[in-house]
Amino acid sequence: MKSAEKAFRLSAWPISCLLPAIVLLCFSSVTQANTPFNDLLIPPLIDSKHSNTPIHIEIRNGQHEFQTGIKSATKGYNGNYLGPTIRNYRNQPTRIQFSNKLEEMTTVHGHGLHVPGSIDGGPQNKIPSNATLDVTYPNQQQASTNWYHPHIMGSTARQVHAGLAGFFLIEDENSLTLGLPNTYGVDDIPLAVQDRTFVEGRMQPYPKIMPHDLREPTLIINGTLNPRVKVPRSLVRFRLLNASNARSYEFNLSNDATFYKIATEGGLLEAPVAIQSLKMSPGERNEIVLDMSDGQTVELIAKLLPKKYHSIFAVLIPFSKKVSMLRVEVDETLPRRTATLPKTLNTIHFYQPDEATVHRHFDIGEMDINGQQMDMSVINFRVEKDILELWTIDGGRHPFHMHGTSFQILSRNGKPPEPEERGWKDVVYPNGEVSILLKFQHEATEEFPYMYHCHILEHEDMGMMGQFTVE
Ligand code: C2O
Ligand code: CU
Ligand code: CU
Repeated sequence: MKSAEKAFRLSAWPISCLLPAIVLLCFSSVTQANTPFNDLLIPPLIDSKHSNTPIHIEIRNGQHEFQTGIKSATKGYNGNYLGPTIRNYRNQPTRIQFSNKLEEMTTVHGHGLHVPGSIDGGPQNKIPSNATLDVTYPNQQQASTNWYHPHIMGSTARQVHAGLAGFFLIEDENSLTLGLPNTYGVDDIPLAVQDRTFVEGRMQPYPKIMPHDLREPTLIINGTLNPRVKVPRSLVRFRLLNASNARSYEFNLSNDATFYKIATEGGLLEAPVAIQSLKMSPGERNEIVLDMSDGQTVELIAKLLPKKYHSIFAVLIPFSKKVSMLRVEVDETLPRRTATLPKTLNTIHFYQPDEATVHRHFDIGEMDINGQQMDMSVINFRVEKDILELWTIDGGRHPFHMHGTSFQILSRNGKPPEPEERGWKDVVYPNGEVSILLKFQHEATEEFPYMYHCHILEHEDMGMMGQFTVE
């Protein structure tokens, strides 16, 4: 969108149009189920160091209890809902066999992984029903919180909604020796945030006809309704993943306390950044650290952001519904752990924009990118390996993601990014126009190209996606 045109469109939004929307939002009753607390489910850990290879992951139908005693029809990896957290170590390859026990095709995409297109798990890497895919992940990238989920053209939204998603963590020398909280499930806790509809405690299946973006009223974490977690009286690290189909959130603490952001999608920040709130669009990950040393219970609050919250629509944010998402309680019987955060976390080599020889522009339309829709037989562009590129995404309300590497944000609407965004990322909510710098180290051929797309899963399924090669 040209800026003159943009200015016109913005001014064409008189406050009189916004008022009814605001009123509607204030009264729209989005309720959290009024049930007792359930202990937060922690996905089982498969540590690649201590497990026999190959690791077996079965993709199957299940029956999951979001609320103790009430079963819902779901899908999961090795379990009923979601999948195990796979912990990997830099430069130590992990071999996994994925067996598809569903009656439909699926793929397993390693979201955030720097891997060749041939093992990226995009729409071309199909695993037919009853087939097994054998993949060896090289794990060459730095410590980061990644995830895996289906990426099958037209069915991604439904399959993820049913429960197919899991964490894929990479650790390295640095992350393991820094002194960060890193005891899985104790002071290093993954939180997959999703929104679902429950009727009498039962999760409602994905609608028969795909909606434009499925936004549901009730939040769950790691497949737990009304979760509570008990933690030691020390620093606690949460690895937040917005695994929702379409919803974005703004998180903060019930006491408005400061917490620390230590990592974005692709790795640790250079230093912890003190924040009081954090917005996350679908597909994004952030690691945060809470100080629980005062022993007080705190709640993680999520504001359910409106469908559009970019530019002028940001005026709606204060009016959006808030829900208590997770109760964090100190358990005095747990031994105390980490007391202080390291001052420096990582060394980031920042790309220089004048070294970018290729510029690309992505104009995100209502359901297209640069006027094009996904066509499995079309390669939308070709990238040369190891060359720095500058991409400009003019995207408004669509979280943009691309496969194969991590990027750095150069600017947002012409301004440098905030310290909390000065790290490695692979999803960005453009909030106007965002410029990113990126480089690809792996190959993606025409047979197995990389994807770029909107991470609202319905938009992705409806074709808001394209493919590119790296050679
Ligand atoms: Cu999380 Cu192309 O995906
Ligand atoms: Cu991805
Ligand atoms: Cu979108």
